Amino acid sequence: MLEKRLRELGQDHIARLLSDEADPITRERIAQDLETFDLEFVIRLTRGKHLYEPPGGVIEPAEVIPASFAASDEARPYRAGGIDLLRSGKVAALVVAGGQASRLGIDAPKGAVAVTPVRRKSLFRLFAEKILALERRYACTIPWFIMTSRENDQNTRDYFRRNAHFGLVPGNVFFFTQGMLPSVTEEGRFLIGPDGSLCMNPDGHGGTFNALRASGSLEAMDDLGIEEIFYFQVDNPLVKVCDPLFLGLHRMTGAQMSSKVVKKADPDEKVGVVTRLGNKTVLVEYSDMGDDVRLARSTDGELLHWAGSIAIHAIRRDFAEAITKEGASLPFHRAKKMIVALGPDGKPIGIEGIKFETFLFDALPSAAKTVTLEVLREEEFAPVKNRTGIDSLDTSIMLQNALFSSWLKQAGFEVKKGVKVEIGPLFALDREDLASKADRIPRTIDRDTYLG
Ligand code: UD1
Repeated sequence: MLEKRLRELGQDHIARLLSDEADPITRERIAQDLETFDLEFVIRLTRGKHLYEPPGGVIEPAEVIPASFAASDEARPYRAGGIDLLRSGKVAALVVAGGQASRLGIDAPKGAVAVTPVRRKSLFRLFAEKILALERRYACTIPWFIMTSRENDQNTRDYFRRNAHFGLVPGNVFFFTQGMLPSVTEEGRFLIGPDGSLCMNPDGHGGTFNALRASGSLEAMDDLGIEEIFYFQVDNPLVKVCDPLFLGLHRMTGAQMSSKVVKKADPDEKVGVVTRLGNKTVLVEYSDMGDDVRLARSTDGELLHWAGSIAIHAIRRDFAEAITKEGASLPFHRAKKMIVALGPDGKPIGIEGIKFETFLFDALPSAAKTVTLEVLREEEFAPVKNRTGIDSLDTSIMLQNALFSSWLKQAGFEVKKGVKVEIGPLFALDREDLASKADRIPRTIDRDTYLG
């Protein structure tokens, strides 16, 4: 039956591997893979259905709360509102960590990459310490949901176990796994990997929504009394996890999904921009961005679409519930990717294939109300994406170091040139925290120093 259907769908090479004459191990693997996704749906994808289409209509700049707001008196009630949410245990943190660190040339979950300037803590350790510091500060529990993929789920869980969950209560750390989809050739044929299974890729971080539901995590959140989800990507060590001001603004304005942005460094920076289309908020991803959006300037010569997304969102749990009720129907983006697959002669070769992914931020237009908050790049964005150059480990360490030095200098300490400093989240979470620890810091910092 399945073999017949595969043939009808132009996947005769797969049907052959399921036949009685095929190698039993391969047959088993392929059969298992085929059970993990909706075949008819994927075929429709390969035929151009359910794909992302650039928004029609005039894209206008989003309404953005400027970074200067944070220091104003007006910000106080919102920050207090965010703190209330945390204190009352209504906030969960959620990190998307489905990717491997392959772009960095490391064969490990990206969260295990050592990123801090002095102690070389991993991203996961750093986030865990930020959560722990907040839990201590606000006497609360912040459940942490970690989205993994089939590729790295076991390694990620093992990594946490080996490190005693970095001091967090293990029962408050929840792992859930995102879905996978087959990668295909330009002609829409499935590819077979060197191990005899289908070549699959994680379904994109838009898969978070369905994975939250399928794994029972939405239900678990409900049981825990969680009302808001603080969402972030695994690659940014400067993320202000569960930032009270952001959470308060999002909550008290009745937003369903909110975003943090920074001023785009230049038109070609690889970040999406938050924009407005009529009364909807739309995030235009850099890979889908036309020159009309990328290069547009306002009358004063500044970039019109400057609101660069740092992929930090606040999401109401009931919004996530609502959009996953019948399966989140986010559009699929098609991306070209080099894939090692079996060639016609059965030997592994590099093939330019296609992968399909959904993006979490494509849920923004479905939100009746959103908030977009500008934050300062130097304080909140130092991603580790590439092996060298822009957004690499080197640039991230430099930016983290610069931020910690600025906190110390502002608190009246001297930091000698060329010296690396790192301030652990459990020592101080922010500038204000640091000032209160002044008696534990040497007046002059003349060698690489970790304050923890
Ligand atoms: C991403 C955003 C971009 C934003 C920029 C800010 C996308 C598509 N684009 O770009 O709008 O301005 O970050 O740094 O996200 N991930 C999963 N599962 C997947 C795919 C990705 O968990 O199936 C996670 C990765 O582990 C990573 C994050 O999502 O944490 C970002 O994915 P990536 O594809 O690297 O996007 P960027 O090009 O960095």
